Amino acid sequence: MKIGFIGLGQMGVGMAASLLRAGHEVSVYNRTAARAAPLVAEGARAAASVGEASRGEAVVTMLADDAAVESAVLGEGGVIDSLRAGALHISSSTISVTLSEKLAEAHAKAGQRFVAAPVFGRPDVAAAGRLFVVAAGEEQALAAAAPLLDAMGQRTFVVSETPKVANLVKLSGNFLIASVIESLGEAMALVAKGGVDRGRYVEILTSTLFTAPVYKTYGGLLASGTFEPAGFAAPLGQKDIRLVLQAAEALRVPLPLASLLRDRFLALLAHGGDKLDWSAIGELAARDAGLERGS
Ligand SMILES: NC(=O)c1ccc[n+]([C@@H]2O[C@H](COP(=O)([O-])OP(=O)(O)OC[C@H]3O[C@@H](n4cnc5c(N)ncnc54)[C@H](OP(=O)(O)O)[C@@H]3O)[C@@H](O)[C@H]2O)c1
Repeated sequence: MKIGFIGLGQMGVGMAASLLRAGHEVSVYNRTAARAAPLVAEGARAAASVGEASRGEAVVTMLADDAAVESAVLGEGGVIDSLRAGALHISSSTISVTLSEKLAEAHAKAGQRFVAAPVFGRPDVAAAGRLFVVAAGEEQALAAAAPLLDAMGQRTFVVSETPKVANLVKLSGNFLIASVIESLGEAMALVAKGGVDRGRYVEILTSTLFTAPVYKTYGGLLASGTFEPAGFAAPLGQKDIRLVLQAAEALRVPLPLASLLRDRFLALLAHGGDKLDWSAIGELAARDAGLERGS
């Protein structure tokens, strides 16, 4: 298919490369144009604007947050203005339920198709085309999106005909991952202060009752204290907890753990954590316990 890809950050660059590998004709656009160079070397075409990248059969957006997606899609000369009727927009960023609903309405009004397809998996998984995709949209839109989602991910879970439902599921997943990071951080502070090696502790956990990838990935990062370079930057993690709380408030669902995580992220950012991986919130429990790294 002739497609556009907008947003070549840590995730977008790997996702666009997966689409190229699958044989699609890909026009790429990024605010910081230099980030398109490796993809152009692999056969992508560099688009000079969002509008130019939105003239094919489909366009994928993988931008940072609501503000970036809103301006690229709804702004003047953006995706809505440029995509032809019947063409498809796949929105893969982790954005708010409210914005997803707004995008769905705008695309319907313009006679365009829209699929919300947020993803699970970090940048290395994106580069390997092995993401898990949570998708929602009308049946025909989902059918048109399927070959592209298959190229970027190992499995697509269709959750609804209403796009915003996929965003709700994605946000709830990131709430769960952050909860695991926090509880792992607390447990590790406890055992480390009691003299147990963190790496050995994670090995015990992940080869017994806690074998899930999330414990392996984040247990490893917390044990080694490797929070740079960030695979998923702390400000984006904070954004997700904020969006979870917004969605929960709209549905009148108290999430006491999410409120705690909100404060953890604020503490991390207040102490200069902007460039760190979001898993660095798991180190705050060790700091509260007076543990120095290496102890
Ligand atoms: N990293 C992960 O592990 C992960 C996993 C699943 C989902 N996600 C979600 O995927 C999305 C992208 O994440 P990422 O890790 O790839 O982020 P990233 O590396 O920070 O990349 C963000 C992208 O958005 C662009 N951007 C940011 N603000 C913009 C603005 N105001 N106007 C235009 N472009 C703007 C950036 O352009 P520049 O290059 O010009 O800055 C870049 O292309 C986020 O919604 C994130 O929550 C991330």
